[in-house]
Amino acid sequence: MSKPFYQINTESEYERACQGAIEQPEEFWESIAETFHWRKKWNQVVSWNFEEPDVKWFLNGKLNITENCIDRHLKDKADQLAIIWEPNEPSAEVRKYTYAELHREVNRFANVLVKNNIQKGDRVCIYLPMIPEAVFAMLACARVGAIHSVVFAGFSSRALADRVEDAQAKMIITSDGLLRGDKKMLLRNIVAEALEMCSSVETVLTIRYTGDVVKTNHLDKWYHDELKSVSAEFHAVETDSEDPLFILYTSGSTGKPKGVVHTCGGYMVYADYSFRNVFQYEEHDIFWCTADVGWVTGHSYITYGPLLAGATCVIFEGVPNYPDTARFWQVIEKHRVTQFYTAPTAIRALMVSGSEIPKRFKMDSLKVIGSVGEPINLEAWQWYSDYVGKGNCPVVDTWWQTETGGIMISNLGGIGKHIPTFAGKPLPGIQPVLLTSEGKEIAEKSAEGLLAIKYPWPSMIRTTYGDHERCRQTYFSAYHGYYFTGDGARRDEQGMYRIIGRVDDVINVSGHRLGTAEIENAINEHDLVIESAVVSYPHDIKGQGIYAYVICDKLPADEEKARKEIHFIVESIIGKIARPDKIQFVTGLPKTRSGKIMRRILRKIAEGSTSDFGDISTLLDPGVVESILKGKI
Ligand code: WT7
Repeated sequence: MSKPFYQINTESEYERACQGAIEQPEEFWESIAETFHWRKKWNQVVSWNFEEPDVKWFLNGKLNITENCIDRHLKDKADQLAIIWEPNEPSAEVRKYTYAELHREVNRFANVLVKNNIQKGDRVCIYLPMIPEAVFAMLACARVGAIHSVVFAGFSSRALADRVEDAQAKMIITSDGLLRGDKKMLLRNIVAEALEMCSSVETVLTIRYTGDVVKTNHLDKWYHDELKSVSAEFHAVETDSEDPLFILYTSGSTGKPKGVVHTCGGYMVYADYSFRNVFQYEEHDIFWCTADVGWVTGHSYITYGPLLAGATCVIFEGVPNYPDTARFWQVIEKHRVTQFYTAPTAIRALMVSGSEIPKRFKMDSLKVIGSVGEPINLEAWQWYSDYVGKGNCPVVDTWWQTETGGIMISNLGGIGKHIPTFAGKPLPGIQPVLLTSEGKEIAEKSAEGLLAIKYPWPSMIRTTYGDHERCRQTYFSAYHGYYFTGDGARRDEQGMYRIIGRVDDVINVSGHRLGTAEIENAINEHDLVIESAVVSYPHDIKGQGIYAYVICDKLPADEEKARKEIHFIVESIIGKIARPDKIQFVTGLPKTRSGKIMRRILRKIAEGSTSDFGDISTLLDPGVVESILKGKI
């Protein structure tokens, strides 16, 4: 291979890289992997089959990802900022860490973990606000070879307990409290509730942050106490390429959330590669991704991607509308952000307060602006491009998933053509296909179909924690020989992809992924509820809203009260993000003779259709449709 297409800067380089990656995939990925620091080089680039599935990259390579995120930058960048932390309160003090300081913090944290009996392979659950310690904690786990499982600090105690139990986590790292906009939550108290529902935890490591008095018990260690006796040196533990780096739970169409497992070597290579190419990273750039580290976006494009590339990364604790809707734009100016990466739901929410607000800010440091998490509608795309990018920043609409570990389909900032609402072309080395519902690959360029991937890439899901069969069934069994994404997509003549959305029972609310079954199970825990069916409907800000049809013993006398109770139950089992926007009490659901709920009809009703339900003759009781329509809210 003539050039390691490590950083692509022109369209012709992009095309050559794509071609090279298809013709000689192993040489292609090897040339990229060679740019990292390995303690011992791999002896085989990839081995794979999509039957089991069994995918391995950079076999027998030895490394520690944190040596690549931190140590190797110390030679040239010890005094360069690695992290700029912007707190929830605009008046509170910004915290900044150079690479040398990050090195120290992560070493100290790693020593605290080891002192508390955390060893290679142990699972550590991280349940923290968006404070720098969240990133230190992740890196410290990686440094000692432990597997982190970050749980978004908006999930309820029950959801936390489920995840801790599934991963058999030995430690929970949390804080006394969390600030989010004008709200405060006492995280350690939520952990206390969770601890009553799980058994594997030996230590709770609590970071003092808000200073609130919280419930603690004999498992507790205060982080600041532990720090007193540890050294700022720590020799990173050697891991194998295929040792797990982290578990991240995500929702699917059935059952409980599953723990997606990513491994050290391949994930490292792809997080860095996708970061620098999509965002067209250059030295001294200041990158800001507004996600929370509780989601994969935060893993790959707050913690790992930017630090692997040696970038300066802004970590933001707050929310887009606190103290007002100018906050994002103020932060961009304050820290001279060069790349800004956020979600369509945030853009739509900010659009409501008008273009006058972003117009007050020049934001002339920006070079590339990105979108992630859900399809971006044309209005939001245009507004983002006009008022945030000021018409001269390329917008990268990045399609990927928790399971893919990194961005798969996206324009590379400023390279080639960008079509509004089209994610664009695959990154070099990624081989997407469109399938018919029978699983046949569609050869025509211009087509619509099910999005699948036919060749492995370094950061692809390896397994679902503790249940490999579930991984096979969910992603590799529907269409033989492919990784199936669960999304539908359209492709144009030039090979550009536009993602349409999920084709399974997964709902995307404000970029958060939720399974309908998961929400239904929560609703069904209400004493009066017999059965429920949850579907999505178009929502102006959230993208999709949650519409729940609920059958009770008898119709509740006070519907408002029953709705509140259902909200409360869903919030306590999953979290606020899963709270239904609309709850309609019904006496029956449209079911086929075999008892299957016809969600297609429920979706149409939720969208506001009053006719054209297609063939309803197979329904056990066609009259049920009429009756649901009458009670539509
Ligand atoms: C699902 C994955 C990727 C990090 C955040 C979400 C949807 C994601 C886009 C996009 C259209 C998108 C898909 C995908 N999605 N990005 N740019 N355009 N849809 O990760 O929670 O694993 O959700 O989000 O439906 O399958 P996730």
